[in-house]
Amino acid sequence: MIAVYAARSSEEDPLSALEIGERPAPEVPEGWARVRLRAASLNHHDLWSLRGVGLPQDRLPMVLGCDGAGVDDEGNEVVVHAVVSDPSWRGDETLDPKRSLLSERYQGTFADAVVVPRRNLVPKPSALSFEEASCLPTAWLTAYRMLFTRSGVAPGATVLVQGAGGGVSTALVALGSAAGYRMWVTGREEVRRARALELGADQAFDSGARLPERVDAVMETVGRATWSHSARSLKPGGTIVVCGATSGDATAAELQRVFFLQLRVVGSTMGTRDELERLAQMCTVTGVRPVIDQVLPLEQARDGFARLLQGDVFGKVVFTRS
Ligand SMILES: NC(=O)c1ccc[n+]([C@@H]2O[C@H](COP(=O)([O-])OP(=O)(O)OC[C@H]3O[C@@H](n4cnc5c(N)ncnc54)[C@H](OP(=O)(O)O)[C@@H]3O)[C@@H](O)[C@H]2O)c1
Repeated sequence: MIAVYAARSSEEDPLSALEIGERPAPEVPEGWARVRLRAASLNHHDLWSLRGVGLPQDRLPMVLGCDGAGVDDEGNEVVVHAVVSDPSWRGDETLDPKRSLLSERYQGTFADAVVVPRRNLVPKPSALSFEEASCLPTAWLTAYRMLFTRSGVAPGATVLVQGAGGGVSTALVALGSAAGYRMWVTGREEVRRARALELGADQAFDSGARLPERVDAVMETVGRATWSHSARSLKPGGTIVVCGATSGDATAAELQRVFFLQLRVVGSTMGTRDELERLAQMCTVTGVRPVIDQVLPLEQARDGFARLLQGDVFGKVVFTRS
């Protein structure tokens, strides 16, 4: 089958580690299901994998892709939940120390087919296209959990999102504004800030700008470049929810601010299968749809990776199979 895979890893030049070509079709273990993919969406995680982060040499070659939507062998239209937990694990699978994401231990979704534990299949909402549904399992699920499960702030609160056009950032703005939060955004470029406003942000600011007032919560995916601004932007008792550090680890932890203002720093990773089902339902009920920048045939995946690497994408890049 055709697949997009990491053949090696390169921290400096991740695209040099990317290959598009034939890989063996997957076997289906007992209790697992095969999904013929119709669409799969690209995440920053796929770039980290090419750099070797979370993907050691001894697991290569590895088909990339955490997210996908397609049709299982029984003909059901499904979304693939990307968090694979240990069969013995019960409860919130994001807390399973043995969990992995598709493309870390098991082959990913940038291929004709993927196999996953049967419990990882979620019905695709009929209102969403395969392309839209393929954006839900990583960036959109992560945003859902950050905002609705981990932040502890209720609708009506003011929430700052660091970064305007990222996969997670756009999901946060779209979901938060649909749920009645006042969403503020920072962005490095005017054109991306303008698009965030179109998406439902209440106000958009230059990265690092002083805000008109302090906010109840900050959603952090950027790390070093925005961390101090996040800590400075919070009301006393406010919360930073952090799921990523694209620009690197924070150099100053801002500990004085954290204790003096009694800030909460809360980590968040992916989401549960139940949260994925609720996210799908929320999209159906509210009419909110994933923001798709570009749809490409899987064979042209390299172009999508290059744009994500350059920071050129607003929302999601989706790869399709017919
Ligand atoms: N823990 C988890 O489960 C989980 C899940 C999903 C993602 N993540 C992580 O979260 C991060 C974002 O993922 P993504 O898929 O949304 O990535 P993405 O689509 O590449 O988005 C990158 C975002 O970061 C912002 N950004 C990058 N460098 C910046 C800098 N130097 N200064 C200010 N803003 C900067 C961009 O802002 P502009 O729009 O202003 O350019 C953009 O909004 C990644 O590190 C990813 O690995 C973690």
